[in-house]
Amino acid sequence: MKILVSGGTGYIGSHTVVELQQKGHEVVIVDNLCNSSAGVIRQIGKITGTEPLLEVFDLTDRHRVEDFFGRHAGLDGVIHFAAFKAVGESVQKPLDYYRNNLVSLMNILEAMHQQRVLHLVFSSSCTVYGQPESLPVTEEAPLQKALSPYGNTKRISEEMIADYAPLSGIKAVLLRYFNPIGAHPSALIGELPLGEPNNLLPYITQTAIGKRAALSVFGADYNTPDGTAIRDYIHVCDLANAHVLAMERLSKLQQQQKPEVFNLGTGHGNSVLEVIQSFERVSGLKLNYRITDRRPGDIEQVWADVSLAESVLGWKAVSSLDEMTRSAWNWEKYLASQ
Ligand code: NAD
Ligand code: UFG
Repeated sequence: MKILVSGGTGYIGSHTVVELQQKGHEVVIVDNLCNSSAGVIRQIGKITGTEPLLEVFDLTDRHRVEDFFGRHAGLDGVIHFAAFKAVGESVQKPLDYYRNNLVSLMNILEAMHQQRVLHLVFSSSCTVYGQPESLPVTEEAPLQKALSPYGNTKRISEEMIADYAPLSGIKAVLLRYFNPIGAHPSALIGELPLGEPNNLLPYITQTAIGKRAALSVFGADYNTPDGTAIRDYIHVCDLANAHVLAMERLSKLQQQQKPEVFNLGTGHGNSVLEVIQSFERVSGLKLNYRITDRRPGDIEQVWADVSLAESVLGWKAVSSLDEMTRSAWNWEKYLASQ
């Protein structure tokens, strides 16, 4: 297949490009490099032997999107990663988030329809569930009001695709990621947060390497076994693999009534302290951390029911928590060596 990967120089996109190329698919990336760098293309080339084509432009520019689709005949599908993703920033700049995340998607949907590119895999998030009533959370769980404009863009995007797909003939898979962490085992690509990280794993590895003084553990008074919040952490390479399977499924699917939705997690929850312990185990280091107040807006615990992805996509996460934290640490050390 020939696939457009939007946001393909970003964290999850770059790992997915590797996976697509290693399965023999051709990739064209569109990214405006607002949160990534063109150097990722060379790194992908080192891993796979092929540097994917990169076109640098902003997907909110409708004419550029139409022009791109007009020039790339024979696309089999789109995996749409490009979006802003910082929850806290979205509260400060809600319109930036609505514009970037929603207008990009609208432009892509219209261009797909016009050029008859009819397979879409979309990056959604477990944020659409809020704090679920029962765990593990299935795809049938009611969606809750988003706690941030970022989360709201994911919910609205899902609805937009569901409204447009039947009219346009687009078949779509909406993938609800739990907490992606880790890096490619080669340590040639990984997560590159700009400035102070928001997410747990980059904060841990940056503290261990000496870029940050100490990790704050946000709350130890939750109703969980060790008092810290629980998430379903998933290796980014496992996540990447699911995108390839989703696209392969769409290419074989004769008909679809409405977009299919899949949770992507391991099916297990780990607490913040368990992640720290795993990191300490694989790195042989003691991490400097302190318990602080809860972070506003955080939920207590969530983990996925992944049986649907297993039965329909034939997908299952295979990496352990230690493999995730080890690969993240190797990536941090690689960055420090550059
Ligand atoms: P990322 O920021 O590393 O990658 C996104 C890429 O999109 C970046 O390279 C950025 O430059 C590009 N981009 C953004 N807006 C663009 C635009 N208007 N035009 C062209 N390029 C644009 O993020 P990621 O972690 O790889 O996330 C990928 C997707 O997965 C996003 O949609 C994100 O919301 C979603 N997601 C991420 C997580 C997570 O924890 N990382 C969790 C759930 C969902
Ligand atoms: N945490 C800390 N200290 C830190 C960073 C995080 O203790 O410095 C804790 C958080 O409180 C949380 C856990 O580590 O309990 C994971 O936090 P992350 O920020 O890594 O991930 P979140 O679960 O908060 O965020 C994820 C995705 C978002 C999505 C959000 C919705 O990264 O894209 O879920 O809940 F919007």
